[in-house]
Amino acid sequence: MGIIQKYGELLPITKKTPRITLEEGSTPLVYLDCISKLLDIELWGKLEGSNPTGSFKDRGMVMAVAKAIEEGAKAFICASTGNTSASAAAYAAAAQVPCYVVLPAGKVALGKLSQTLMYGATVIAVKGNFDRAFEMSREAAEKTGYTVVNSVNPYRLWGQRSGAWEVCDVLGKAPDWHAIPVGNAGNISAYWAGYKQYKEIGKIVELPQMMGFQAAGASPLVTGELCPNPETIATAIRIGSPVNAKFAKEAVAQSNGQFNAVTDEEILSAQKLLASKGGIFAEPASCAPLAGLVKLKKEGRLPKGITVVMVLTGNGLKDLATAMSQVGEPITIEDNMKDLLEVMSS
Ligand code: F0G
Repeated sequence: MGIIQKYGELLPITKKTPRITLEEGSTPLVYLDCISKLLDIELWGKLEGSNPTGSFKDRGMVMAVAKAIEEGAKAFICASTGNTSASAAAYAAAAQVPCYVVLPAGKVALGKLSQTLMYGATVIAVKGNFDRAFEMSREAAEKTGYTVVNSVNPYRLWGQRSGAWEVCDVLGKAPDWHAIPVGNAGNISAYWAGYKQYKEIGKIVELPQMMGFQAAGASPLVTGELCPNPETIATAIRIGSPVNAKFAKEAVAQSNGQFNAVTDEEILSAQKLLASKGGIFAEPASCAPLAGLVKLKKEGRLPKGITVVMVLTGNGLKDLATAMSQVGEPITIEDNMKDLLEVMSS
């Protein structure tokens, strides 16, 4: 059952909204036993890489696309660091509406680029960063009348609220901390709105503290200043001028949360920790929250015993080049048993 089917009563849909779905949402919430013990907390991972296109974007995209079709959209357009474009292209294909995506040239992980091309979107790579691609796509939307399906589209954030609802449905409450990577700052804003909505309708009593994590080289919400040349190995969050900065700041201020930055090195080491001690392969950007928790633990700023949910926003298979650069090559042997047993006993 997709988001519109599962949570239709909580979403701004009408009789005319098409009930489209690729069976997004209902992703696993996994208890991470070993890492919980290491950090002395109760840590859960929300596996958003299990969505149809491998990231959380599908929750919002299904709403954006359904509402756009309801309103008679001619075509969709978005800028993207890769996941939004894959998701937009997939839902556009399912609905048979043309889709244009504008990407920062050379800065999108290959898995995401190949998905987007495979789904049949028109892909335009701009020799500039995401922020510039976003500016250009918004201007193009004004000129063409096409529907922008980036997170400035309010229906995207509506759909993404469903992640918070699922967390509460499973835990029976909100966590103490909600830890989440922040790029264009839509998802943190959506989760906060989702938790608040659930409190208003009496589904939960307490709200979580919203803990946003950015890459150190692209951390405008931590430094308080726009970042004209964002740089990080976590290309999904390589963003210097987050469009939803205002909502994200409100979420953190109202919930008594925090923004923190983590280095690329810390992100890559968290990615390995999550895989080798949790059995979950998430893309680099998704590992910023775990990197942050490890760092806060080292600094004595991680309260003992709290319940933390971190959103593992995208599947590790999307960015294999970064993963392979960390793990090295397999051990290659000749075609004989002796060599195999020798390697296994060493
Ligand atoms: N994690 C992943 C895997 C992402 O792809 C993104 C954003 C984020 C975290 C940050 O979420 O922007 O809502 O703060 N990706 C966008 C894209 C920008 O184009 O795919 P945010």
